[in-house]
Amino acid sequence: MSLAQRRILLGVSGGIAAYKSCELVRRLRDLDAQVRVVMTERATHFVSPTTFQALSGQSVRVSLWDEQAEAAMGHIELARWAERILIAPASADLLARLAHGLADDLLTTLCLASAAPLYLAPAMNQQMWAHPAVQANIETLRQRGAHLLGPAAGEQACGDIGSGRMLEPHELREALVASFGGGSLAGLSVLVSAGPTYEDIDPVRFIGNRSSGRMGFAIAQAAAQEGARVTLVAGPVSLATPVGIAQRIDVRSAAQMHAAVLDAATQADIYIGAAAVGDYRPQEIATHKLKKHDGAGLSLQLSENPDILASLSAKTVHPFLVGFAAETHDVASYAQDKLRRKGLDMIAANQVGGGLGFEAADNALTLYWGDGALELPRASKPELAQQLIAQVAARYRSGRS
Ligand code: PMT
Repeated sequence: MSLAQRRILLGVSGGIAAYKSCELVRRLRDLDAQVRVVMTERATHFVSPTTFQALSGQSVRVSLWDEQAEAAMGHIELARWAERILIAPASADLLARLAHGLADDLLTTLCLASAAPLYLAPAMNQQMWAHPAVQANIETLRQRGAHLLGPAAGEQACGDIGSGRMLEPHELREALVASFGGGSLAGLSVLVSAGPTYEDIDPVRFIGNRSSGRMGFAIAQAAAQEGARVTLVAGPVSLATPVGIAQRIDVRSAAQMHAAVLDAATQADIYIGAAAVGDYRPQEIATHKLKKHDGAGLSLQLSENPDILASLSAKTVHPFLVGFAAETHDVASYAQDKLRRKGLDMIAANQVGGGLGFEAADNALTLYWGDGALELPRASKPELAQQLIAQVAARYRSGRS
């Protein structure tokens, strides 16, 4: 990842999340970006301009009427200088002023005077974020081409829980990196499936598995960071959509995942099946909750689900296919068998158990393709996902060898 010599104008408006933007400046500079910070007057009540000045190595601008600063670099010159404008945090007030085309301070004036793409990272109380006025402003800005980054859901500084948290600095940085394109998957569409499937038994029970979706979500994010247009088909998981994902489709059952993936695959160059798809489903779903009859056992008749990867590889035209194999033993031989049997271009094998695989934060993979193999030793799922994507891109570009 690099932002070498990229010119980023960071706008900071008034909100408690402004403290996170200090970290953001550091992270942008770690990638050699040039960063100039413009604050609204209200933002200075949360963080001092001196802090941003020290972190960015540049003087910080607040007012349109600062004669000294204007003489050094006029506001129109600053508007032209920027290759990207990122406003983080973007408060409800700032969004409203932008939506109405106001230019009543330096930051809003710069947004009107610049041709640079505008990225907005909203941060506010969840009730404010849900307010129809805020949503209408967001919609207006989106229709004008502004890119929305977040907000995320979770615990807020005010104690509320809900949507309205500013994305983390590393997520904002990754979105900026991706916005410049040029990654190893630039111009390609990547479809990723993630998480478990649930096969309903009755209105309250289902057959599921322990997949958390973390591996698949990390892969989707890594592909987006490499410039791909990513569609993520997610089983029932409690994970936020990673930054930069073009489309997320939520499904529950294997049949729904099968239909969603086959539909989206017509537009995809690469499909990565990281989902733990249920192999079987109850032949019938009871319409009422099944009752316990003391002493009597319960048998369920199961039918096999269609195999998503095999259905895709059976098509004359299909994406580059990457499967996963999760095994408790004989991992290599089962994985290589699946590679051949399902007609895949590559398979990522993981041994499950021992703190790896399902649910865990870490994993370890062995990749197999044609007559090649590569071990990716134990690492966090985001790190492994980046290594996997590098290999997928290399194999795809070298013509499905
Ligand atoms: O979600 P996490 O908690 O992060 O855990 C990650 C993981 C362990 C789930 C992931 O790394 C993984 O291994 N995913 C595949 C798990 C699996 O179900 O493997 P399998 O051996 O049963 O299936 C092999 C391949 O066929 C998989 O790519 C699967 O998506 C695919 N498949 C399976 C059944 C089916 N009906 N259709 C399919 O396409």
